[in-house]
Amino acid sequence: MKKALVCGAGGFIGGHLVNRLKSEGYWVRGVDLKQNEFGNNQADEFIIGDLTLLNVAMNALEGGFDEVYQLAADMGGAGYIFTGFNDASVMHNSALCNLNILEASANAGVGKIFYSSSACMYPEYNQLDPENPKCSEDSAYPAAPDSEYGWEKLFSERLYLAYQRNRGLDVRIARFHNIFGPCGTWQGGKEKAPAAMCRKVAEATDGTFIEVWGDGKQTRSFLYIDDCIDAIRALVKSDFSGPVNIGSEEMISINDFAQMVIDIANKKLTINNITGPQGVRGRNSDNSLIFKKLGWKPSLTLRQGMELTYKWVSKQVAISVTA
Ligand code: NAD
Ligand code: GDD
Repeated sequence: MKKALVCGAGGFIGGHLVNRLKSEGYWVRGVDLKQNEFGNNQADEFIIGDLTLLNVAMNALEGGFDEVYQLAADMGGAGYIFTGFNDASVMHNSALCNLNILEASANAGVGKIFYSSSACMYPEYNQLDPENPKCSEDSAYPAAPDSEYGWEKLFSERLYLAYQRNRGLDVRIARFHNIFGPCGTWQGGKEKAPAAMCRKVAEATDGTFIEVWGDGKQTRSFLYIDDCIDAIRALVKSDFSGPVNIGSEEMISINDFAQMVIDIANKKLTINNITGPQGVRGRNSDNSLIFKKLGWKPSLTLRQGMELTYKWVSKQVAISVTA
């Protein structure tokens, strides 16, 4: 039986990944600061621990692993990473997790190690035109991410590649483009636009409005969680190290996205654009490389993924109202 360690298993993507690995017959150990808050975790063993501490990373690696998945990070949506208030902790905590997990993995002689980077590492100068952003993998340099979160991701990508060159690790690096779906953070300040839109629409009554940050003309693409997990598994099974985009090419403006959620909910609401943290003006995944290397492309449309997500978030809203 293959053994996998999932770092960040208490989080959104980590929780889904643990369950996929279990369904594929793996023995799985999870490690995180916290358990998955939605009970969405079938790990065989779960260590509550802080991976900014080297001894916690070393303990997590004990016993030997075929595959390590590194998803632990101090992260959130625009309301968390673009305000400037969390820059020091984001860089400090995430960099230490990566440094410790790599050192412990190299010492333990693991098979493959997967790292979850982000589209936030791409330079801002290629993401100024909302209709025509450029995020191909070869456009990463000259580096100019618009957030410290993005700079840490870029530094850590380089760290993983250095451990591949010098310490014998077999590395896989993905650059995620806004992943969404059930069991993700939907309130509290770290939620991203998909969950935030669902929550706002679910809470609003007909004839009122929802608030959307910025002028709503900024663009993004969003990838449903099951497609993301498929792509992670395809990358790890392949001989390709990356870095490679894992995202959707279905770009949409944020106001159109908000309207999509209003339509899904079948509510009569208007959109009120307000000042808020916005990040880059436009972003879209470029899937040429992942299709060429792995033959992967998303299976769900944005609308299909958002219908599933709205159903889940609106249920959480209803539960929280009655609690
Ligand atoms: P998440 O916040 O739900 O999960 C991250 C997990 O890491 C959390 O459960 C958190 O408790 C854990 N963690 C943080 N610091 C830790 C520490 N010191 N020790 C142990 N655990 C710690 O986020 P997610 O959406 O599941 O993202 C997973 C990974 O993918 C992250 O590295 C993130 O930066 C990256 N990513 C995600 C997206 C996205 O849209 N979700 C996009 C780009 C990149
Ligand atoms: N979160 C949020 N909440 N965003 C909103 C809201 C709201 O209520 N209203 C409008 N937006 C706008 C933001 O201003 C931003 O322009 C856009 O929606 C997308 O915001 P997020 O989903 O929060 O973040 P992001 O796409 O800028 O960055 C996310 O994706 C990256 C990868 O592509 C983050 O999750 C990053 O951590 C991630 O690396």
